[in-house]
Amino acid sequence: MKIRLIEKSIKKIKTDIEIILLNDIDDAEDRKLLENLDFKAVDESCVLLGDLKKIYVAYEDESYDSFAIAIATGIKKFQSTNFTSAKLNLVDCKNEQLKAIVEGSFLGAYTFDNYKSKKDNKNKQELNIVVKEKTKELEAIFESSKIISKAVNKTRDMVNTAPADFYPAVMADLAKELALDCGIDCKVYGERYLEKNDMNAMHSVGIASIHESKLIHLTYKPANAKKKIVLVGKGLTYDSGGLSLKPADYMVTMKSDKSGGCAVLSTLWAIAKLGLPYEVHGIVGAVENMIGGDAYKPDDILRAKNGKTIEVRNTDAEGRLVLADCLCYAQDEIEDIDYIFDYATLTGACVVGVGQYTTGIMGNNEILKRNAVLAALKSGEYATTLDFNRFLKKTIKSEIADISNIASTRYGGAITAGLFLDNFVYEENKEKWIHFDIAGPAFVEKAWGYNPYGGSGAGVRMTIGFLQNLNK
Ligand code: BES
Ligand code: ZN
Ligand code: ZN
Repeated sequence: MKIRLIEKSIKKIKTDIEIILLNDIDDAEDRKLLENLDFKAVDESCVLLGDLKKIYVAYEDESYDSFAIAIATGIKKFQSTNFTSAKLNLVDCKNEQLKAIVEGSFLGAYTFDNYKSKKDNKNKQELNIVVKEKTKELEAIFESSKIISKAVNKTRDMVNTAPADFYPAVMADLAKELALDCGIDCKVYGERYLEKNDMNAMHSVGIASIHESKLIHLTYKPANAKKKIVLVGKGLTYDSGGLSLKPADYMVTMKSDKSGGCAVLSTLWAIAKLGLPYEVHGIVGAVENMIGGDAYKPDDILRAKNGKTIEVRNTDAEGRLVLADCLCYAQDEIEDIDYIFDYATLTGACVVGVGQYTTGIMGNNEILKRNAVLAALKSGEYATTLDFNRFLKKTIKSEIADISNIASTRYGGAITAGLFLDNFVYEENKEKWIHFDIAGPAFVEKAWGYNPYGGSGAGVRMTIGFLQNLNK
């Protein structure tokens, strides 16, 4: 769908249909008719009045969520018709409202039909967002919201792609393409590099796959950068569980285990397109966790890049092994880091704990974690903190190695995974690190809000929001 910002009197714009957002039914021109249809301005209610060529959608309050969900609902209705053009009257629009509307429009219009033999023609449709005056400020908001939404949709495309078509080398090629498109640097390393550089934890996870593991490093370095930020992503292009094989039902959707890595790639692309004044690195461990005669095993002892030894007790707790080496790589290669964030669909426990809509935020710096939660909520994502404590920390001790890759307790699995990662964050970076467990929101099994079935692009908006906020 084409989405444009235009300046014109709403009456003068000729489109096939008009989308009208409504908070109070008394404000509607067609109040009587809406009453007869028992339309209530609550939740996501939406009605198409074919003869009048109008779509009415309710928004509950002035929040980002309400506007974004309302316009996405209106667009879905528009997409269910054969009308080709629509307009939305936003003449009394505030800046924050435009951001929510633009992002809700792009995210709500998203469809993924790469694997459908019959494509619909919905990309021929257009939405005209009509403002009173196309000021520089509104135009800038429109453009930045468009870049952010495109980055989310790029992440969704990658996550939705089947594992046979999206393995580590494909991810690396895509990273190169994205880098070329936004003018940033991209380096890719294979298994020889992992071996030579003592990245035995990451290397072991991918050993049984026919696809070579790839370490991807994107760098965006504007002149006079004010800060240095490192984003690390778990890029498990498939997680079968390895020898600790997942039960059949749990394996379905595990193509989405690359979501953290995909979010990092698209976020780097967006940061460069937005021209943010920070040096930003994106590091992704792209690996496939499979079974085979050469697979790594429960009982193996792996040595991570920082020299710490890890007892493997479950090969399905593989993401933390990949991230351990990627975190070390980042800290060894990049000096004077201001923030180091990692993104991972790390634990089912996080989904159980906080629900499928919410990201779990962990780390050692209370203020930083709070700011990350606030940035997430403001950007339209749900997030909450999960606290470390000294007792859970003891549960990942190992009898035979420095640390075990699973805890000795059944409880608090998201936190013990975060505590495992903490072992690979160097002393000088302890307060600069945040771990985002996106296992819940990264993949949508039942559509919600403006998220259709499939990858959601979790992590992208909150990270960009956090960085944009640093600027203020
Ligand atoms: N990729 C999974 C976590 C996951 C589960 C993501 C559900 C999204 C939805 C991860 O690699 C994993 O398997 N974790 C195990 C850890 C356990 C063995 C300690 C889990 O959560 O069960
Ligand atoms: Zn796993
Ligand atoms: Zn995994």
